[in-house]
Amino acid sequence: MSVRRLAPREVQPESFAFTAENLAWAEKTIAKFPPGRQASAVIPLLMRAQEQAGGWLSEPAMRLVGDMLGMAPIRVYEVATFYTQFQLQPVGKRAHIQVCGTTPCMLRGAGDLMKVCKSRIHEEPFHLSASGDLSWEEVECAGTCVNAPMIQVWKDVYEDLTPEDLEKILDAFERGEHPVPGPQNGRHTSAPVTGLRVLTAPELFDGSTVGQGAGLALAREAIAAKANGDAAPSAAPPAAAAAAPPAPPKSDPAPAAPPPAKAVEAAGEADKEKPKKPVAPPPGGKAADPKAE
Ligand code: FES
Repeated sequence: MSVRRLAPREVQPESFAFTAENLAWAEKTIAKFPPGRQASAVIPLLMRAQEQAGGWLSEPAMRLVGDMLGMAPIRVYEVATFYTQFQLQPVGKRAHIQVCGTTPCMLRGAGDLMKVCKSRIHEEPFHLSASGDLSWEEVECAGTCVNAPMIQVWKDVYEDLTPEDLEKILDAFERGEHPVPGPQNGRHTSAPVTGLRVLTAPELFDGSTVGQGAGLALAREAIAAKANGDAAPSAAPPAAAAAAPPAPPKSDPAPAAPPPAKAVEAAGEADKEKPKKPVAPPPGGKAADPKAE
């Protein structure tokens, strides 16, 4: 992790001013915060200043943001030097590659990604490539550890990387393209790379078991069937759930729930007194035949 200092004086520009468009955006952003809390806008304003200046924050830019927010310059420097999302010296025109070097990424190959950066960009971090298009640095955890190893480029993250993936990403940036961020191994966000392996019964997600108290039983049945290599289980609810009394209409006051054993008993008594009615079948299931009892 590098010591984060402002760029030397000879690198700093004389001044910084927001463009008219960015100034209007900044004023609107500041107005989102209650009176006396304008300093809360410091991070978005610094980020916009960095984007406008080609990817790095100069001292005049930080000073301007401090003036706009009524903050002492040192308070703005504290923010800018703390977060590695802010660059304190000129970086590659097309991409500044931040390679996560924290434990999960290192265990998953971040060292090989850094070798690519050293060979393709510069042996040392924070130095520009020969074309001036790229630069790189090592940063601490960027928060996508489950998709390690990863890099961050501006606001995007590129995850599940191999050295070959990184080569392709660098090629794309050098051509002036914006490669598609996210996992590079085809998985969706951080879903299992092998596909779903648990909770795979469709009945768990299609609503057919809602209100029947049968979800857990079906889940167990589905898991057991999967383990045995059987066909998908039937969606029919277990006998206890099928015999449960119908739910009262929504407008009725909710009755006090009897203990489960009492509820079954009460349902049995009610069934004896009432003419038998067919139980509505669950979607995809078979209706129970009252005459069969
Ligand atoms: S350890 Fe690399 S993203 Fe967290």
